Amino acid sequence: MHGVGELAPADPPVLLEQTDDSTVESVNGRAMIGHRPILPEDWSLINGDSRRKIRTMTTPVIRTVGVPKEIKNNEYRVAMTPDGVREFERLGIDVFVETGAGVGASFSDADYRAAGADIVPTAADAWAQQMVVKVKEPKEEEFAFLRPDLTLFTYLHLAAYPTVAHALIDAKCTALAYETVQLDSGALPLLAPMSEVAGRLAPQMGAHYLERHNGGRGVLMGGAPGVQPAKVVVLGAGNVGWNSAWIAAGMEAEVVLFDKNLDRLRWVDQINKGRIVTLASNRGALERNIADADLVIGAVLVAGGRAPVVVTQDMVRTMKPGAVIVDVAIDQGGCIETIHETTHNEPVYELHGVLHYAVGNMPGAVPHTSTYALTNATLAYQLEVAVHGAAGGCRRDAALSHGLNTFAGQVTNAPVAEFLGTPFIEPLAALN
Ligand SMILES: NC(=O)c1ccc[n+]([C@@H]2O[C@H](COP(=O)([O-])OP(=O)(O)OC[C@H]3O[C@@H](n4cnc5c(N)ncnc54)[C@H](O)[C@@H]3O)[C@@H](O)[C@H]2O)c1
Repeated sequence: MHGVGELAPADPPVLLEQTDDSTVESVNGRAMIGHRPILPEDWSLINGDSRRKIRTMTTPVIRTVGVPKEIKNNEYRVAMTPDGVREFERLGIDVFVETGAGVGASFSDADYRAAGADIVPTAADAWAQQMVVKVKEPKEEEFAFLRPDLTLFTYLHLAAYPTVAHALIDAKCTALAYETVQLDSGALPLLAPMSEVAGRLAPQMGAHYLERHNGGRGVLMGGAPGVQPAKVVVLGAGNVGWNSAWIAAGMEAEVVLFDKNLDRLRWVDQINKGRIVTLASNRGALERNIADADLVIGAVLVAGGRAPVVVTQDMVRTMKPGAVIVDVAIDQGGCIETIHETTHNEPVYELHGVLHYAVGNMPGAVPHTSTYALTNATLAYQLEVAVHGAAGGCRRDAALSHGLNTFAGQVTNAPVAEFLGTPFIEPLAALN
């Protein structure tokens, strides 16, 4: 896949590009840049594409995109920033943002308008566009907007939300899920940014609850000159855990990072030059370090499965009164035996004298940062879908085709089909 603002590889040359800040378009058979015809000196700037190719460039398959306000409880993120709008508009794709959609993430209607968006008064106006981009799966009150000629691109987690899956299937909607877009390496590029945010947030939450008036044992992460800092134990050195360890070390805590993957620990060790202590995960080392910890951060993941229980109830019982657990892995069941999911409204509970924090959508606490982190990753894929259409985009880009979950009433993602007990059809076979 090409990045935002880059010329798509030729044949077929589809992205209408670009010399300065303007779009090359075919207007009444004449190639134009912005509002003026192409001048001879412009040709050399168009990455070697011939004049003929410019004249045969197609316009984007999707011409209108809607951005509704998120309606899920405590969801303040928005699917597109004003800078994202600017990218769509420069390709001649109109963006319709529901009024107030960005307020939770600190973007005003005026910010979007300045970037070229149309502000529309109702959700129905945003949903009426050819493509709708969102953050969370559609809620029941949005099901009426689903239809066969709609392309929806958002987090779907259909295995967790079968009602949504059936609504998309029944409506014959073309639905792409951020979380299943997958690179050849197996990496999930549209999940990683939220792991990074949750990982960086975890020590901040932990530090907050370690304060005495918040129920903690009154320990400052960085200690003080002549005073022992907090001991932070991080379980899992992946996207979440590595970011947690990094921030906790930045707060000058004493940090111990566990993982089963020694190569991952080698990598962390080399980068941090010993500032973060790395330990291979085994029962004895865990028991000793958990008992001694002020803050434990859970961040293990076994792809496709429930999180393994790494810290047992007996280990929690050995922890110091007022110590804090932040189990980021809660969305996969959690890796601490005593954990259950909490919400932003009631983030913590106490058990065995230890505060437990396990909010399932931690990035929702910092929607401004999370919106940028999310849209930095999603924008190029959203543009790809808009320019080439869902079918064209999936044919060109295997990573995107993994993202296709439902098409014309069929389920095109294997794990989702297995979970729903419905037939699975390969995305490209369905599209053909
Ligand atoms: N609560 C939230 O808001 C939120 C937000 C983002 C991500 N998450 C979740 O955080 C978890 C971690 O995500 P990630 O992106 O860091 O995953 P990742 O795959 O990048 O990292 C997971 C790490 O866990 C290690 N691991 C697996 N089993 C282990 C064990 N028994 N002992 C020690 N280490 C073990 C793996 O080797 C890997 O390095 C996932 O469940 C993810 O869904 C939650």
